[in-house]
Amino acid sequence: MKRNGINLFVLLIVLLCCSNNLAAQLNITPKPLSEELQKGTFTLNSKTVLYSNLQGEERKYVFDLLKESPLKLSETQKSGKKNSVNLILVEKTAEYPSFESYQLSITPKRITISATNGAGLFYGIQSLLQLVNQNEDAKTHKLPAALIKDTPRLSYRGLHLDVSRHFNTKEFIKKQLDMMAYYKLNRFHWHLTDGAGWRIEIKKYPLLTDVAAWRPYNTWKDWVNNKMDYCTKDNPKARGGYYTQEDIKEVVAYAKSHFITVIPEIEMPGHSGEVLAVYPGLSCSGKPYVNSDFCAGNDSTFTFLQDVLTEVMELFPSKYIHIGGDEAGKEGWKTCPKCQARMASENLKNVEELQSYFVRRIETFLNAHGRKLLGWDEILQGGLAPDATVMSWRGEEGGIAAARAGHQAIMTPVTNCYFDYYQDVPSTQPEAIGGFLPLQKVYSYNPVPDSLNAEQKKLILGVQANLWTEFIPTPEHAEYMIYPRLLALAEVAWSAPERKSYTDFHERALKEVDFLEKHGYHPFPLKNELGERPVSMNKEDHLALGKKVTYKENYYPNYTAGGDSALVDGIRGGWSYVDNRWQGFMNKDIDVTIDLGTSMPIHSVCANFMQIIGPSVWMPHDVEIKVSEDGTNFTSLKQIENDVPVDNDKLTFRDFGWEGDTTARYVQYVAHQNDKKGFIFTDEIVVK
Ligand code: ACM
Repeated sequence: MKRNGINLFVLLIVLLCCSNNLAAQLNITPKPLSEELQKGTFTLNSKTVLYSNLQGEERKYVFDLLKESPLKLSETQKSGKKNSVNLILVEKTAEYPSFESYQLSITPKRITISATNGAGLFYGIQSLLQLVNQNEDAKTHKLPAALIKDTPRLSYRGLHLDVSRHFNTKEFIKKQLDMMAYYKLNRFHWHLTDGAGWRIEIKKYPLLTDVAAWRPYNTWKDWVNNKMDYCTKDNPKARGGYYTQEDIKEVVAYAKSHFITVIPEIEMPGHSGEVLAVYPGLSCSGKPYVNSDFCAGNDSTFTFLQDVLTEVMELFPSKYIHIGGDEAGKEGWKTCPKCQARMASENLKNVEELQSYFVRRIETFLNAHGRKLLGWDEILQGGLAPDATVMSWRGEEGGIAAARAGHQAIMTPVTNCYFDYYQDVPSTQPEAIGGFLPLQKVYSYNPVPDSLNAEQKKLILGVQANLWTEFIPTPEHAEYMIYPRLLALAEVAWSAPERKSYTDFHERALKEVDFLEKHGYHPFPLKNELGERPVSMNKEDHLALGKKVTYKENYYPNYTAGGDSALVDGIRGGWSYVDNRWQGFMNKDIDVTIDLGTSMPIHSVCANFMQIIGPSVWMPHDVEIKVSEDGTNFTSLKQIENDVPVDNDKLTFRDFGWEGDTTARYVQYVAHQNDKKGFIFTDEIVVK
């Protein structure tokens, strides 16, 4: 009895260890819909054969993929053999809700991937490859027997890359397409044109690539800090580049073989300074470098854009053509005689409606060629074009408004999807545009807003990460910003919400970072992550919590941090002022009085400020802290001068506070702005 007991105990331990081991081997990212470990293992070795009933070019795609992978499988004409990998197209059933769904069955005898379509088989292979790569050093791969059933949550799973601010080669693009496919992303949004450089050969307009693709500066920052001019390729200082039409075809074909659609973006009517530099007749002023918008009153603008789009459509089979549409200043339109004449003849009330006219006209052209218009959420201004799809970036509001109006939308809000933001403590990171987007914040995103009803939710096609490259001059740096955040985005896009767990994902992401490094990528070293600003992690308890605050000057409407209670809500800001925890004041002092409700002993009063000079966020010139018993007669406790230099271009935080012993009911906190135009931000006035 006793012996049996011990044996059973040992057996139990062995079983537990084994199952833990096996579980540890099913580390697929993004997390599949269901995973069931079964008994035994399958050993992949040099004798394993490959069968598929898939035909045509898709057969070639998946076979090529497997040939290049660590699985050097030879082909067989018979299905279901012992020691075989079988890729089987099956009839559509409820088991395969999407053409991208797949099932992966691993038994000790064989591996079978089934799907209704090449795409599903392709994703099943990606899961298999992940399992294989997880014990990559072994000559033979022992895979745990398992049944995986998987299907994507969302049909649009995208990565955007800005190649205007800094050009990246086609080889770089293909390298990223490999990883997009590996993590089951399926849309590459190629931001090919913008004020900092035109990147696609258009045969009819050679100056776009003879000149507007080249800048006589090393980096975007140098260009911005100088004349923002262009040069020819033969200028000894020329930096930049473009894709020939052959390059584009190569990338599009490569993407197709990875079941990725490439969506080109041609910016209009704004962000087009590079075009106007070489074809100034298309601007309102008729001169280069005045503003960045095409003239909307000039028919030549539409001729130009239609010519460009005609060549673009020949290169890109994508149903969607992205026409930008963001951040058009529209200043020139207000006084341009041609724009004014257009507004009069088309009965347009304002420049927003003129922009809407512009977008509708382009949409009509695209629709006539069987394509659909996609644009940033500003295309909602002045009325959305009839069949347009909205890419919601300034928040989710644009996507929500589009879905409520019956339009499709893709979510890519700055708050969770802008990979040009810092991903860790800014002082430890290469210079970024600002913001703070750690891995967990990407992971936590839900792109289908609860505020939509079931029908509207179906109009949210998916989600996309955006990499703008103003501050990202090298390919290594771009990869550093993309990975591992792209894995989090992939899981947001693919995995069922109930299957998500950040702890589990983080474990997998650490391993994937090692994998990426081993394969020549340059991910952010996740194991060294420091994370959020420590004071922002917990609610701060202090005497002014929840007390009434009176403002002499109003805070800025875009940075309320929650309104009148923000400075006494105990919620401290994170590393970025865009987290809606910092209250911002533009071109004015902060002058607030807190009523503690009753007279009480006070030992300290302190507030924290940040300086980040890129977006004109400054330390106050000085701070004065005063107290009063009656709310009328105030005694100054301390005046504190700022000692952070105005040319300090590192993100800097500084406390301005007083410590001592006093008794008072009212605390007045005054932060005077310096003589620079811009913002002051604070997160809390802590009274103790
Ligand atoms: C954008 O970030 N301007 C779309």
